[in-house]
Amino acid sequence: MISPMPRTALLCPPTFFDVIDSKNPYMSRETSIDHAKAHLQWEFLRRSLEQSGVKVETIDPVAGLEDMVFAANQVFVGTRSTLGKFIVPSRMRFPSRQREVPHYVAWFRQHGYRVIDLDFGDDYLEGHGDLIWHPDFSRVYAGYGFRTTRGAVEKFAVAMQAMGVPVIPLQLVSEHCYHLDTCFCPLNTESVLIYPGAFSAESLTELRKFWPRVHDLTQDEVAQFMGNGIVAGGNYLTPHCTPHLEQILAQEGLKPLLIDTSEFEKSGGSCFCMKAMIE
Ligand code: ARG
Repeated sequence: MISPMPRTALLCPPTFFDVIDSKNPYMSRETSIDHAKAHLQWEFLRRSLEQSGVKVETIDPVAGLEDMVFAANQVFVGTRSTLGKFIVPSRMRFPSRQREVPHYVAWFRQHGYRVIDLDFGDDYLEGHGDLIWHPDFSRVYAGYGFRTTRGAVEKFAVAMQAMGVPVIPLQLVSEHCYHLDTCFCPLNTESVLIYPGAFSAESLTELRKFWPRVHDLTQDEVAQFMGNGIVAGGNYLTPHCTPHLEQILAQEGLKPLLIDTSEFEKSGGSCFCMKAMIE
């Protein structure tokens, strides 16, 4: 069993993080964010990644971009031997989040990534919120239905096909699982955590084909972002844990490492959403 070996993560400090509208069922206009607490939680995530063997890079936060801290969404990151390092910029559904994309694209450009711009027309694609590499980088799982559209997945799949990478579309049907990364988390090349209720029957059958071991999380676990973890250095960075999840992790040779993300959960995100892996 080969574990995914993330090397570097890109994070964005939560300087301007806030909840001012409702883009997903976790967000409410009435929410107030404890900014000091958000900073401490973000720092703890950063340190925990470093202690788990991940190098952390940061992008400068921009005033007025309250969701910029969720670094998983603005671009899709990949490497191919023929092409080198590349990104596919997202077309975010919400205008406030569309404004984040050029800042991330500029960062990646400065760091030597080739930019593959796709014409999404009226379609939307939301980076690693909905696009998740198999841990051996042999294919990409692509969630659609709430943020990313089916049409965008098809356009993305054509571009990836040209690089020899198959894309597996997965239809999301439960609004609390509005991004694939809320309900689908690879633990290693053979096993994945999922919430079955998040997928259409057909997509559930499809995704099971690719994994020798599929571990089902409960609705409760997934609503607490236990499927939005990060695998690093033998740890599973997760905001919460249950004896059930702990048992799954033990079976896969992983230990839970608790990271309090309560302030970010008010915005519908946790550990996985707060970084982009740069392999
Ligand atoms: N408030 C953000 C939004 O609704 C949260 C994004 C969470 N990111 C993720 N990859 N699930 O867009």
